[in-house]
Amino acid sequence: MKKILDLLSEEMQQAFEAAGYDKALGKVGISNRPDLCEFQCNGAMAGAKQYKKAPIMIANEVAEKLAGSKAFSEVTAVAPGFLNLKMSESFLGAYVKEMSGAEKFGMEQPENPKTIVIDYGGPNVAKPLHVGHLRSAVIGEAVKRMQRFAGNKVIGDVHLGDWGLQMGLIITELQERKPELPYFDDSFTGEYPKEAPFTLSELEEIYPTASGKSKVDEDFKAKALQATADLQSGKPGYRAIWLHIMDLSIADLKKNYEKLNVDFDLWYGESDSQKYIPEMVEKMKKDGFAYVSNGALVVDVAREDDKKEVPPCMILKSDGAAMYDTTDLATLLQRKIDFHPDSVVYVVDKRQELHFEQVFRCARKTGQVEENTDLKFLGFGTMNGKDGKPFKTREGGVMRLSSLIQQIVDQMHEKISTNEALDAEEAAKTAEVVALAALKYGDLSNQASKDYIFDIDKFISFEGDTGPYILYTIVRIKSILNKYRDQGKEVSMDALGAVQNASEKALAMQLAQFNAVMENACEELAPHKVCAYIYDLANAFNHFYHETKILSEEDETKKAGWIALLNLTKDVLECCIDLLGFSAPERM
Ligand code: ARG
Repeated sequence: MKKILDLLSEEMQQAFEAAGYDKALGKVGISNRPDLCEFQCNGAMAGAKQYKKAPIMIANEVAEKLAGSKAFSEVTAVAPGFLNLKMSESFLGAYVKEMSGAEKFGMEQPENPKTIVIDYGGPNVAKPLHVGHLRSAVIGEAVKRMQRFAGNKVIGDVHLGDWGLQMGLIITELQERKPELPYFDDSFTGEYPKEAPFTLSELEEIYPTASGKSKVDEDFKAKALQATADLQSGKPGYRAIWLHIMDLSIADLKKNYEKLNVDFDLWYGESDSQKYIPEMVEKMKKDGFAYVSNGALVVDVAREDDKKEVPPCMILKSDGAAMYDTTDLATLLQRKIDFHPDSVVYVVDKRQELHFEQVFRCARKTGQVEENTDLKFLGFGTMNGKDGKPFKTREGGVMRLSSLIQQIVDQMHEKISTNEALDAEEAAKTAEVVALAALKYGDLSNQASKDYIFDIDKFISFEGDTGPYILYTIVRIKSILNKYRDQGKEVSMDALGAVQNASEKALAMQLAQFNAVMENACEELAPHKVCAYIYDLANAFNHFYHETKILSEEDETKKAGWIALLNLTKDVLECCIDLLGFSAPERM
């Protein structure tokens, strides 16, 4: 479906042409003086020079051609030569009606959908999810859903951190604790136990202990490095331990992501790129890109015009172990072979920007991506506490994501329990649904690259620019629609017609911008623009609602039209929150 501004521009262009001017001058934009008009066209100003004519004369001539226009109810030429415009109520009504019946509310679908891989989540196996992992999951999920809505083929990959030193550390620590296990007996030829020699919570304790040790104990660290290299080269006992770690850890991660309403198409990890590494490295060497420096294999990626130093990409360490650069490069090769993506998007902490700059350059230089594959780093800022420093527990430690979620659910529960209409079970469920909206909206409403302050009291408020406010609006509309149905009537979109009053028009105008906003938000990978849109939409509805007695309206045609408009508002809001990755309850 065409965008409303394009339709208005088309009509304006015809008028310019009819008046004998270049039609390119007829571009219509949203007014920057909403007190004077809804839309404006500054084409007469631009045309004055070209036609050596006073702009007001051009504007007057164009305005004349627009008498009887279908799209504009008011066209006024004002000094020095602006065209101030109002959209016709019936034109707007018809547009909104068409939108209500259109696929995806009129969002245009591409002729050639793109294949996009989104790399997000990025949790590290054997370590619990902490608040640092929240943003990647929340933003990545929204970007994925939005791209899908835009008609592209999207593959979300969790890209587990499952192949680095942390594995060697766990193996080494386990060997110190339980040297008698068969995994450490090189002469063992039997079958390794099915059951892991540790529980998940033991595992979550083993890692930090080992990590701490490696910082003070050189010998321990050397052993862990060796174990990492041995695991990567396929030592059977280590591989078996690794599989235990993966099983336990992934099951737990899945549970946690499910709570966040985040899901991945692929549960690949750094380890899955292992099989591409030898071939990739050979080729890098053969092509003359990779060389040995201080014992390590590297590829230069610096450019002359770099303002900051960009160090070489580390391909292999002197002991042959793969590095973070290596797995990301080999993963790009893997994605090239598997999907031929048009675009690969990384939703990762912006502090990793340099790493991705190196990897992207190296991938292009050495041919790990096709030439026309776009590589995008969507770096996000830090979630800070009220003190402006990275969010911590009260004791100053790293907060587990599950604790953070529990905290917000508990506070929401307290709030929701004051609603006596809800029984205990519904209150508990509703608290979870609303808390998720609070958490996600609190995050997504900020431009991803910016840091933001995690302010739980603000996030859970039912008023202001918050998730619960959006949900509250949806719930309010649902309740009106239910009452209408209780009057024995049916909600029908056929009832949509010309808009009547000012607040209704403002609401309809907000709805009519859906496809334009969505197209832009998808193109820019910007969920915050969807948030801003639904906040405005919710405000427009609430304003209309306060000004209008809907259910007690006696003119049934009018009432049915309003109800239809409300229904569309609800549908659009629900569509948008689904793209953002949360949902609304029936009541709250
Ligand atoms: N596991 C990494 C971390 O916790 C993030 C992974 C991001 N994705 C990637 N392809 N490197 O820092």
